[in-house]
Amino acid sequence: MHNILRIDSSSRLNGSHSRELGDYLETRWKSVQPDIQFTRRDLAKEPVEQIRQDTITGFYTPADAMTDELGAATALSDKLIHELQTAGTLLITTPIYNFGIPASLKAWIDQIVRIGHTFSFDGTNFSGLAKPETAIVCAAYGASGYEDGGPFRAANFLEPYLDFILKFLGMPTVHFISVQATTADTAAVEAGTAQAKMDIDALIARIEAGR
Ligand SMILES: Cc1cc2nc3c(=O)[nH]c(=O)nc-3n(C[C@H](O)[C@H](O)[C@H](O)COP(=O)(O)O)c2cc1C
Repeated sequence: MHNILRIDSSSRLNGSHSRELGDYLETRWKSVQPDIQFTRRDLAKEPVEQIRQDTITGFYTPADAMTDELGAATALSDKLIHELQTAGTLLITTPIYNFGIPASLKAWIDQIVRIGHTFSFDGTNFSGLAKPETAIVCAAYGASGYEDGGPFRAANFLEPYLDFILKFLGMPTVHFISVQATTADTAAVEAGTAQAKMDIDALIARIEAGR
């Protein structure tokens, strides 16, 4: 059984282009691989709280020294990490907000990036401990020009950040599927969405062929 953890982060529950790509990917993948299982976490419907002082204290407290209070402060992190560590693939759908990822997604990342659980440090080197081998990011950009060589490439803090942090956590393969210019005219949005959906079909075919 192939488990996919899907994280949705657009604040828009309706009319979201990143969610539309996630829905398309989910439907298409299920159609070619009926055994596939999606677990969904919606960061707009159920926001993940920011890490607090006691959360951080709990992160750095050895298991034999944990108190009930610290256990409660890290319970959400435990749950989110469990969801991640029981998945074979991580799917993130995300908008670009103010040239980076939404705060909802950053809050989730801050809860799951945890020493001894999803990464380790031996005093010299960091190692990723995340179980999913593959991450797929479906991203929506209001403007265009974020691709390599594009005029907005330097302002794209979404893709380089997610590529780095997901690899840091030990996911060696990170795929990006993007739709740009979502605030442009209808024809441009339709063309961009159609291309992104073709990219999703091609990606699923590649992944399934390599399985
Ligand atoms: C608060 C906010 C900030 C945004 N910042 C950017 C931005 O920095 N660059 C950009 O290209 N589009 C920006 N946009 C446009 C969104 O990225 C675009 O509408 C995208 O389609 C949103 O994703 P969604 O369709 O999945 O909701 C912003 C939109 C909002 C609401």
